Amino acid sequence: MVKKEELLKKGFRYILALALTGTVFVSGAQNARIKIDIDRKIGEVDKHLYGNFVEHLGRCVYGGIFDEGSALADDKGIRLDVLDAVKDLNVSITRYPGGNFVSNYHWKDGIGPKDQRPPRMELAWARLESNRFGTDEFVDYAKRMGTEPYFSVNMGTGTIEEAQQWVEYCNVKSGPYYAELRKKNGYAEPHNIKYWSLGNEMDGFWQMGHMNAEDYSKKAREAAKLMKLTSPDIKLIAAGSSNYRPNADPNEWNATILKELRDVVDYIALHMYVGNPDNNYYNFLSTPLVLEERTRIVKGLIDREMANADRGNRPPIYIAWDEYNIWYRARGEDTMAGTRALEEHYNLEDALVISGFLNAFIRNANIVKMANMAQLVNVIAPIFTNEKGMFKQTIYYPLQLFAKNMHGTALDVQVNCETYNTERFPIGLGESTTQQKDVPYLDVSVTYNKGEVVVCVVNRNKDKAITTDLISQEGKFTGDLEVFEVNGPDIKAGNDFGKTTVQTVIKPALKVKSADKVTYSFPPHSLTMLKGRIQ
Ligand code: AHR
Repeated sequence: MVKKEELLKKGFRYILALALTGTVFVSGAQNARIKIDIDRKIGEVDKHLYGNFVEHLGRCVYGGIFDEGSALADDKGIRLDVLDAVKDLNVSITRYPGGNFVSNYHWKDGIGPKDQRPPRMELAWARLESNRFGTDEFVDYAKRMGTEPYFSVNMGTGTIEEAQQWVEYCNVKSGPYYAELRKKNGYAEPHNIKYWSLGNEMDGFWQMGHMNAEDYSKKAREAAKLMKLTSPDIKLIAAGSSNYRPNADPNEWNATILKELRDVVDYIALHMYVGNPDNNYYNFLSTPLVLEERTRIVKGLIDREMANADRGNRPPIYIAWDEYNIWYRARGEDTMAGTRALEEHYNLEDALVISGFLNAFIRNANIVKMANMAQLVNVIAPIFTNEKGMFKQTIYYPLQLFAKNMHGTALDVQVNCETYNTERFPIGLGESTTQQKDVPYLDVSVTYNKGEVVVCVVNRNKDKAITTDLISQEGKFTGDLEVFEVNGPDIKAGNDFGKTTVQTVIKPALKVKSADKVTYSFPPHSLTMLKGRIQ
């Protein structure tokens, strides 16, 4: 943001349009600036920022990753076209099996001979659950994906004993009943599941077995005790608040569980879904700022508890944004339940919001150490199938670009550009409203890794390209800068079967010999990734 007085003093030519906050919009006067200083470090980017989520919901498992009898599946029922697309997303960690589903899921239903597994009423999303896909099938799938499996235990209708037995089944080599049962089921070696969450969205009135924060903390602490006695090296994730409806008090919940579980857990899970129900592009594009605000508030609560915690040598509690996405179209009575539940079709503006979330994770890399897009296939997902094939949705491309390129150290960059203010708007379904001020048109994150610098820029401006100087404060840009762009003919453009309108396009590289300033024009409504070296 550039202040009027500064401009006058420097004598720049400018066109003034005073926004509500007194922000000055500048046109033609000077380029926007991104100042990169390789010494200004935020933190290490955790590889688990590029996670995903598989829930027994709609067609995520059945008809998505697993489709017995399909001509596109192998003899184990795994859809091979889907698996290829999944592998190319570089998913670092995958949460399973829910979600709301897990709060009435009994894992023993999903092991052993398939024809002896009991079908159950699935109450969260109104389906018949055949249980033909369960623990062992998911572990096999995770291996083929090349992802770290992350399990959620049932803290709703489940018992702490059941949670302990699941850990025993998965992680104990041999001896006790459930370890031997796994061996009998064909898995001589333990699955070694390292990440376990203690329930899902337990503060939500919609959750089966919903509790208050004190009751949740007590149950979670006792479950954690049994689980850790069974497998001491596991990492535990507490269910933070996901209820931001008016009159809910999400940070009261977060404060209580952090206090009660501060010596026990490794992460607090946060969830966020946003949408554009009133078709206001600029409001929608500002929603990643709300995610960042929530991150900052929870970081403050964590810091307070860490000052009094007894954690030995363990690191502080981190944040796992283990569900995030855009979800607002498939929210009706007919789209919230059954086998076709939560099937969103994404467009370019959705891909830009996802890019904004990913930028926000990188900018908060010191505290956000896990993030999982919800979900992997068909259900609010980057991959969409029918019985004949699949296509990659718009949101696939930013996720893939980040997962493949944004690693190393997150840098704290200075961005100077025009800004805008939003009107008051609802963030997600039923949530309180917000107004966002001074939203920069350029949304930026930068990583630095052994000389390699990667700059991700969303130009939120719908109509104008933004010419920007990238300035290196320490060292020079050396050699070419590769350029990748996710864009489309307009913000509502989307993909479909046989039609890929929005995808990553490799643009001509920027020729740089050795310079401390590079100028690039970021096109309207785009994500651009610049990749090169600073030495
Ligand atoms: O991802 C869809 C649902 O959203 C999950 O089951 C639940 O945890 C959240 O409310």
